[in-house]
Amino acid sequence: MSDLDALFEAARAIQARAYAPYSRFKVGAALATPDGRIFSGCNVENAAYPVGTCAEAGAISAMIAAGGDRIATIVVMGEGAHLVTPCGGCRQRIREFAAPDTIIHVAGPDGIRRSFTLEELLPHSFGPDNLIDR
Ligand code: THU
Repeated sequence: MSDLDALFEAARAIQARAYAPYSRFKVGAALATPDGRIFSGCNVENAAYPVGTCAEAGAISAMIAAGGDRIATIVVMGEGAHLVTPCGGCRQRIREFAAPDTIIHVAGPDGIRRSFTLEELLPHSFGPDNLIDR
């Protein structure tokens, strides 16, 4: 199995664990660190709707908890026919730990549908470098 296949399978496996009783829209995200470790997360909704968290946030949290701090590649998997690109907030979350040329694969259960660079999804972004030389 290729590295990308492994990432895809991790995203699919965790998507099934999503807690999404309100939107009924399950999302899974799996990221690989430069040393090849995979971390995944799913969306976790809440009866107080705004408190729910996205799949990407869960994957990043798992990475940080394990001592990782860089995203080499990420797969985001949604449901349905539409492309489930990361929401705006999650683009910024990914940006914190990624580079402009980091690939974000957008998948459905059928496979990877499109691949973007972070720069394409979040051009002219604000990040840690912007806080240097204050
Ligand atoms: N969702 C994610 O988990 N990631 C995204 O990038 C887009 C949206 C979740 C949040 C909510 O639980 C559901 O999808 C519907 O918006």
